[in-house]
Amino acid sequence: MDKELMKQVAGQEAVKYIKDGMTVGLGTGSTVKYLLDALGKRVAKEGLRIIGVPTSNRSAKRARDLGIDVKSIDDVDHIDLTVDGADQIDENFQGIKGGGVAHLREKIVAINSKKNIWIVDKTKIAKNLGSFPLPLEVTPYGSTHLFKRLDDMGYQPQFRTNAKGGHVLTHADNYIIDLKMHSIEHPHELEQILNNLTGIVEHGLFLDMVNTVIVGDENGSKTYQA
Ligand code: A5P
Repeated sequence: MDKELMKQVAGQEAVKYIKDGMTVGLGTGSTVKYLLDALGKRVAKEGLRIIGVPTSNRSAKRARDLGIDVKSIDDVDHIDLTVDGADQIDENFQGIKGGGVAHLREKIVAINSKKNIWIVDKTKIAKNLGSFPLPLEVTPYGSTHLFKRLDDMGYQPQFRTNAKGGHVLTHADNYIIDLKMHSIEHPHELEQILNNLTGIVEHGLFLDMVNTVIVGDENGSKTYQA
């Protein structure tokens, strides 16, 4: 089974958790695209009444195109469930997100959700986090100094740039610095360190947020509960 099919089966499995009347956080990325496709079909076929809370402009557009009602997080009073992708997940259900530049909104939606589910293909599962670079959303102001500080700390930072060599910008017009740490042995300790650095708007460590992970592999999807 190729990777796209693994993503698709994970997205199709996750849509079963969405019930009529729910307010649902809609993540970002190529795996969530399959969730949105499956949700759009259920909305059309079953007349499901769903309010989607998208975590990116991309997901908002796709949801609307598929006939899913969307609202901003500030226009809903709660979120029942959020389904999102992830860049890497370790065996303790801790994750790295932000490969698609959306982790600030994704984290805000996740922490305001009653339940969170991640959907991934099996290549995202790792013993330890860190082989996927850890994204930081940082304020442009002072970012060269923050970069140097991170470099001095041994975190191997790299500004994320676009094809023209300019900075990749987030929804809030901030920059992204990726930490190429290779292995993160103690994610909670790193989280504390990053939380204390001024200039980091949000980092891509998503710790203790998810207890259901749906993984697509050659044989279909498997659901893991913490
Ligand atoms: C967006 O910033 C990310 O956190 C995505 O959720 C993550 O990159 C997963 O995307 P894919 O499903 O495309 O791998």
